[in-house]
Amino acid sequence: MHHERIAIIDYGSQYTRLITRRLRELGAFGLVYNSGTSAAEIAGADLKGVILSGGPNSVLEPGAPELDMAILDLGVPILGICYGQQILARNLGGQLHRATSREYGKAEITASPETSLLFEGLPHAQQVWMSHGDHVEVAPEGFAVTAKTPGVPVAAMENAARRIYGIQFHPEVTHSAQGTPLLLNFLKSCGMALDWNAGNFIEEKVRAIRQQVGDGTVVLGLSGGVDSSVAALLLHKAIGKRLTCVFVDHGLMRKDEMTQVQAYFAPFELNVRWIDASDEFLGALQDVTDPERKRKIIGGKFIEVFEREAGAVRADFLGQGTTYPDVIESSGIGGAILVKSHHNVGGLPERMKLKLVEPLRELFKDEVRATGLALGLPEEMNQRHPFPGPGLAVRLPGAITRERVAILQNADAIFLQELRESGWYAKTSQAFAVLLPVQTVGIMGDERTYEAICALRAVTSEDFMTADWARLPHDLLEKIAQRIVNEVKGINRVVFDITSKPPATIEYE
Ligand code: XMP
Repeated sequence: MHHERIAIIDYGSQYTRLITRRLRELGAFGLVYNSGTSAAEIAGADLKGVILSGGPNSVLEPGAPELDMAILDLGVPILGICYGQQILARNLGGQLHRATSREYGKAEITASPETSLLFEGLPHAQQVWMSHGDHVEVAPEGFAVTAKTPGVPVAAMENAARRIYGIQFHPEVTHSAQGTPLLLNFLKSCGMALDWNAGNFIEEKVRAIRQQVGDGTVVLGLSGGVDSSVAALLLHKAIGKRLTCVFVDHGLMRKDEMTQVQAYFAPFELNVRWIDASDEFLGALQDVTDPERKRKIIGGKFIEVFEREAGAVRADFLGQGTTYPDVIESSGIGGAILVKSHHNVGGLPERMKLKLVEPLRELFKDEVRATGLALGLPEEMNQRHPFPGPGLAVRLPGAITRERVAILQNADAIFLQELRESGWYAKTSQAFAVLLPVQTVGIMGDERTYEAICALRAVTSEDFMTADWARLPHDLLEKIAQRIVNEVKGINRVVFDITSKPPATIEYE
């Protein structure tokens, strides 16, 4: 059983994810499918419409991604965008104009709202966003031309009887001034209820989890991050004590992390095994300075400890907080080129021979947060910055010792406290302290000191693939630096990192 949905067939456009976003903002649930998807694979009582995305190919080239024409017989409205319109036109007998160059940027269309369902109630003259090579020259039989530009004779076409629509421009991009109302018109034509929100997502997911898990049991690695926390609460709501969470403290957490996460979760009465494995991790890391080896050791140890602790639970399923961007990134849907290399527990399900239950697979990050809020996760927990799996290890260039970990934890705690109090925590995407393996001379009172440098890193970022350094006010930085040098023994100098990503990465190792 699923919420009513729009299937988005992805032809590789960089905007496919935006289409999904816009639909969800309008209260419609959209799911992305690969271009080879057949009608049978998307069919179902919950299917309300299909959108064919844009793409970089030319439909006139041999080997261009295809459309299963049986999709047109599923009885739901179809909207082809750019490549999507061209493939409809070509397959239905229209004529295409082969481009010698791409048209890219803003354009003005003249639409016919009087005779079009898609443009109903919208102005005649509209600014739109174009990004295409070929275009449709003559619409197929049975189709009316519903918009044009001086250079593009069929900027939009529709077959009202069959509810098939095509547009040359991109309504999902904000430069298309009427893009959102146009998508809304399409959704109306699909008869969508437009009731997608975090609340009904929870109800449905709870039902789906119960169906999948039956009377089985689930074990989940709880890190205290937003994704695993929301996944834990959702699973708990569905199956209660048949969920066991395992929290592994590898000794490289932020200051008092485990105590804090315990406090956040106390009201929910979750079944959690709190494991202090810091001796094991720090022991294995002794004298290791190579960043890649550190990561490997931590990843390997994590699997070992988790397997041991989770094995004791004898669960049937492994719960994971995988989100929609993770799915898109690792499957290549949506033209995303980056494959996440940070999955610390990669391979775990296969090793443990457990079936997976991933209740957040369809959600974007802000939707995960909305779900967390609706489930009662405290706002502070819900808005936490991401924290890397290997923890402070990647913020401690050089050798990892208990003493250096403690120095870094103390400096980091001061930094985060000041950011929270000044309101800057919410204005940055990630902020933390780093302890450099360099000692410099300082003077404190009458004494010369020879201690470590602490670097402060604060960035703003949409997706953490690129990032800009946060413009923290000078007086705030001064206060933080003074507090760190005064209160943390072992640090006598503080620097602020002003490199963006690229060329630097966010973390130091
Ligand atoms: P970089 O340093 O690559 O970091 O710019 C981008 C984002 O990924 C996080 N990060 C990690 N997360 N395991 C994780 O779970 C890792 O090994 C890891 N390395 C980096 C980093 O904190 C930032 O948000």
